[in-house]
Amino acid sequence: MAILDKHAVLEKNATLLLIFSLLVVTVGGIVEIAPLFYLENTIEDVEGVRPYSPLELEGRNIYVREGCYVCHSQMIRPMRDEVERYGHYSLAAESQYDHPFQWGSKRTGPDLARVGGRYSDEWHVDHLVNPQAVVPESVMPKYAFLLDRPLDGEYITDVMNTNRLVGVPYDDEDLEMAVADFFSQADPDGMIYADSDPDAVLERYPGAQVRNFDGQPEVTEMDALIAYMQMLGTLVDFSEFEQTPDEWIR
Ligand code: HEC
Repeated sequence: MAILDKHAVLEKNATLLLIFSLLVVTVGGIVEIAPLFYLENTIEDVEGVRPYSPLELEGRNIYVREGCYVCHSQMIRPMRDEVERYGHYSLAAESQYDHPFQWGSKRTGPDLARVGGRYSDEWHVDHLVNPQAVVPESVMPKYAFLLDRPLDGEYITDVMNTNRLVGVPYDDEDLEMAVADFFSQADPDGMIYADSDPDAVLERYPGAQVRNFDGQPEVTEMDALIAYMQMLGTLVDFSEFEQTPDEWIR
């Protein structure tokens, strides 16, 4: 009781209350912030996570340009309904190389963090060309024009270099080979890119999917966007992470 009585002094004196509140906030702030200065990295390394391949990175830029994030999030929360619908909750490391991240705050359409491998390339082409042909009640806009926009990889080295400036670990060789890797991934059979070397892409970007994504000979924005869609959430092998329902509910 005695200590509560003393607290009454604080509650009745505005100046004292202000001073003590500030003190409490300061201590709390230091406790929260100070450790961050001593940590080299706040993101735990996770096996399998790697920087985007040049084609995936281009696809990601198209995703951002077209504002797909306005309707789609890329963050699965650790709650049962989300985990049952979308798969393992998102790890910080999975968006480690995203500049800017695409977590999003609104879902008009479903979360896309693990959409990779869920549908075929043909499904993606049909859906992007005319979403209502696949899902009649869909409110998603049509993106058919992506098929008619060929890419020449002109800016991809610069884009990778910019990502490197903000901390993505691309090395000199990655930059040198950017254009070659770009075409090799979307044209592994060398239909239009004679020097295609898909093995080199796989070596630099393990787990990358190399194929003609949109079925057209030339490499288009559709190829890049689908290459990006198909790799989302596929880098980490979650079969090693046993999850019990108790862990889902936070
Ligand atoms: C106006 C909101 C809106 C925008 C913008 C939008 N989408 Fe969608 N998207 C939806 C809705 C609603 C659905 C669910 C119905 C359907 O499948 O079409 C959906 C579904 C999807 C799916 C299927 C997901 C699943 O798990 O079934 C993919 C993939 C997708 N969108 C990709 C994209 C991409 C890539 C872009 C940008 C080029 C984009 N969306 C832009 C609203 C949007």
